Amino acid sequence: MRNNVSDFYNNLASEYKSIFKDWDYSVKWQADCIDNIIMPQIYTQRNHTEILDCSCGIGTQAIGLALLGYKVHASDLSIKEIERAKLEAARLGAELSFSTADFRTLNKQIEGTFHVVISFDNSLTHLLKPEELQVTFNNINEKLVDNGLFVASIRDYDKFLEERPKILPPYVHDDQEGRRIVVQVWDWNDDDIYKVNQYITKQADQECSTICNSTFYRAITREEISEKLSTAGFYNIHWMMPEETGFYQPIVTARKL
Ligand SMILES: C[S@@+](CC[C@H](N)C(=O)[O-])C[C@H]1O[C@@H](n2cnc3c(N)ncnc32)[C@H](O)[C@@H]1O
Repeated sequence: MRNNVSDFYNNLASEYKSIFKDWDYSVKWQADCIDNIIMPQIYTQRNHTEILDCSCGIGTQAIGLALLGYKVHASDLSIKEIERAKLEAARLGAELSFSTADFRTLNKQIEGTFHVVISFDNSLTHLLKPEELQVTFNNINEKLVDNGLFVASIRDYDKFLEERPKILPPYVHDDQEGRRIVVQVWDWNDDDIYKVNQYITKQADQECSTICNSTFYRAITREEISEKLSTAGFYNIHWMMPEETGFYQPIVTARKL
């Protein structure tokens, strides 16, 4: 099994926004959600708070947080996504810095320390080996100032591991350019790893086309994540469910000792 994460996101970079009904709106909305979690926990102003988004993709969270006034550095494994994130930041008038980096080796690739490190929208579960997740949490811990805050969102795998769904409800977005249908089909292995086949269909007038890409995820329980965060030297590990935050995935916060 080849773990082709970088290829998957390099191929998806130019289409990533089409997954969303309105990506610009999501940038603002997600930043507000994250700001509501961070602000009560940092005891200082946004423009004095340095954030590292270590799996920024095309900037869905990083750009919105920069627009709110945080000092943001955004990194990702995918070169094409970083290129796209730079374009989107310029278009939206956000000032932040970018680099490519693997979150398993942040200590070698990213200079300095941050008050907050974030990793949103299920990025960490691309790591298929438990030991890689531990190495990543160790790296994130190293990139935080003392008492710094880590915030991440992960799919609700406690639920999905029971159900092992084959398909998730599709998204259907209609706008002036036509219709977009985004579907994920999940092929489960015998263990907790599954292959995601993502289909993005675009229809305008009588023209219809589909692109398909696939990659692998490991369904990681909240208990495993909490244990590994604790081993990496985090305390106050706290999970918030969507009913509490309004966000579409469970969110974990943890403090560096
Ligand atoms: C579902 S996307 C989320 C991106 C962004 N946070 C968002 O919400 O738009 C997952 C991201 O994790 C990144 N990623 C996966 N493995 C990584 C690694 N080892 N190091 C850094 N980034 C990684 C991918 O390149 C991708 O951009």
